[in-house]
Amino acid sequence: MTQTLTLRRPDDWHLHLRDGAMLKGVLPETARHFARAIIMPNLVPPVVTMADAKAYRARILAALPQGMVFEPLMVLYLTEGTDPADVAAAAASGLVKAVKLYPAGATTNSASGVRDFDKVRAVLDKMAEIGLPLCVHGEVTDSSVDIFDREAVFIDTVLDPLRRKTPGLRVVMEHITTRQGVDYARDGGDDLGATITTHHLIINRNHILAGGIKPHYYCLPVAKREAHRLALREAATSGDARFFLGTDSAPHVDALKEHACGCAGCFTATNTMALLAHVFEEEAALDRLEAFTSSNGPAFYRLPANTNTLTLTKGDAVRWPAKILTEAGPVTVFDPGFPVHWHVEG
Ligand code: DOR
Ligand code: ZN
Repeated sequence: MTQTLTLRRPDDWHLHLRDGAMLKGVLPETARHFARAIIMPNLVPPVVTMADAKAYRARILAALPQGMVFEPLMVLYLTEGTDPADVAAAAASGLVKAVKLYPAGATTNSASGVRDFDKVRAVLDKMAEIGLPLCVHGEVTDSSVDIFDREAVFIDTVLDPLRRKTPGLRVVMEHITTRQGVDYARDGGDDLGATITTHHLIINRNHILAGGIKPHYYCLPVAKREAHRLALREAATSGDARFFLGTDSAPHVDALKEHACGCAGCFTATNTMALLAHVFEEEAALDRLEAFTSSNGPAFYRLPANTNTLTLTKGDAVRWPAKILTEAGPVTVFDPGFPVHWHVEG
């Protein structure tokens, strides 16, 4: 018996596409399955202004292969110099769908991020007024805080005070990795959403560290212990409208992953939909996959859901390339470590 699953076409609410040769190499991997994606602005230099976002969007569309349809949803990188009027104009034009908060030093290319929240107060107030979401990388950067605790500490010491100071600010907790993240998002009211990556539904910290260090499983926030992975699975497969897919697919060439100081990021664009079907089937929640990948995200962002579809069928073990060969160098595709039987058609 063939098992078939047809979903509204999915969107990715957190994606790194980079630029230049890397962009050209990885964009088809996302555009093959996803209609739209929230495009992370942590380029070097970052995408800070409306003009930067407009130019980056044009480069993404120019890199899209003939015949593929894909809509990049642009995001501005919040700095202490961001102009509230520029943010408002970028949102009003329809070009920009969110602003990204990186605490300075939290992750890849976050040096231009925020150190002093009072310096971005006027921007946050403007965003609350116009309903523009703030996407938050939720980890403290204090080196005295254990890396596995940085998300939970951020929620208590930064995120919650920030939300109290800016009533009405719409916030996406990005790539949550902990039970505390799940609990805070679930209780946070209508102004709060949370994305969950594919890889955090599959790996825990043992996958990175036990039996030899596995750099391709290293990302930020780093995967936590098993109880947290199970809390994420429960949230993602619950159908709760606050939780939606943001893959955080983050390509780095192998030379920079397999390195004495390896970059953070798992590249999951190629096989995310097959992996999610597997995970949701394991949780007896295939009927809730569409909510997670295709309905909850647009609802939070106040955008129409896609009207076209994506079909998956169950069959022999799927084979995907171990690496995507970009002109910037090879990028290793996330390996879940188990066979997956859901094929994306087309
Ligand atoms: O693993 C990650 N990779 N986490 C981030 O926050 C940034 C991303 C990247 O840009 O490589
Ligand atoms: Zn990211």
